Amino acid sequence: MARVTARTSDIEKAAGVLRAGGLVALPTETVYGLGADAEDPAAVGRIFQVKGRPPSHPLIVHIGGAEQLDDWVQDVPATARRLAGHFWPGPLTLVLRRGPRVPLEATGGLETVAVRVPDHPVALALLAAFGGGVTAPSANRFGSVSPTTADDVRAELGDAVDFVLDGGPCEVGVESTIVDATGEIPSILRPGGVTREDLEAVLGRPLEVPATSHVRVPGQHPSHYAPRARVVLVEPEKVVAEAELAQELGHRVGVFLPAAFAGAEVKAHAVVAVPGSMADYARGLYGFLRKLDQRGCDLIIASVPAQEGLGLAIANRLRRAAGPRPIV
Ligand code: TXA
Ligand code: MG
Repeated sequence: MARVTARTSDIEKAAGVLRAGGLVALPTETVYGLGADAEDPAAVGRIFQVKGRPPSHPLIVHIGGAEQLDDWVQDVPATARRLAGHFWPGPLTLVLRRGPRVPLEATGGLETVAVRVPDHPVALALLAAFGGGVTAPSANRFGSVSPTTADDVRAELGDAVDFVLDGGPCEVGVESTIVDATGEIPSILRPGGVTREDLEAVLGRPLEVPATSHVRVPGQHPSHYAPRARVVLVEPEKVVAEAELAQELGHRVGVFLPAAFAGAEVKAHAVVAVPGSMADYARGLYGFLRKLDQRGCDLIIASVPAQEGLGLAIANRLRRAAGPRPIV
């Protein structure tokens, strides 16, 4: 997929906004981020305000290269260096011990900090022009679907963000894999764009993946990545029947039609044909959820893919999208 390369003047403008304590939405290979100067507690505070995110939920600090790691963290185990050397720039976030440069506002008060080098030319150009670290959560309101285009960001945040850098549609489409790398034996905190199999191949050992319901850290709640429509997950072979039943009962049903049933006629309000390739599915996932919301669906019937490769991250996001929601 072609990547849009932002103009140099836009990069300079975005770097200036960061220096002035403003917020910049920036493209990464995973999803768009809502960025602020990582060393400016007031700017970091604005991120939480704009997102409506509880201040205890830690952010990711984006840096321009693996060689900058020691500027931000301390006591880096050899395993963490191996992972950084192998996967950066890329969709891998390492949780490590916080260095003094990282304000507690960015870590939700934790003595650890999440760090990554994004693999996107526009993000890297911004980090180079700015010079410092950029804290950036996904550029969506708290709990809702992450944005994968600049238009999604504008629809989510409007004027609350000072500048939107357009870097085209995100290539990976789901967030980075978060690995707790503070000890010699790392563990996966959130599945994402780097697969468990790829990590295991580099580490030469199997990795633990937490159950979806298990909240390891603030910011990993069961209901997350959720569209407005309620999401219900069923077995793949039941998707069509359940969707048609719900539609008959008066719902406006959006269907994620599994690739194995491609071409099936479904009597529903809107149908998304799920791609057979997990890379294509991950890239499209949030756009599909947004599209069904835009079509006015109140219910989405989907199934989870096999939990291998990128399927693990897709299943995780779908489970969270279907998770219990607060009663309001
Ligand atoms: O791909 C991504 O990771 C995107 C792009 C913009 O880089 N960012 C992203 O950020 O997904 P966010 O804020 O939506 O999710 C970051 C998650 C937090 O919810 C939290 O669970 C975890 O990272 N996290 C951050 N700091 C942590 C820490 N010190 N210990 C454990 N988990 C941490
Ligand atoms: Mg997020």
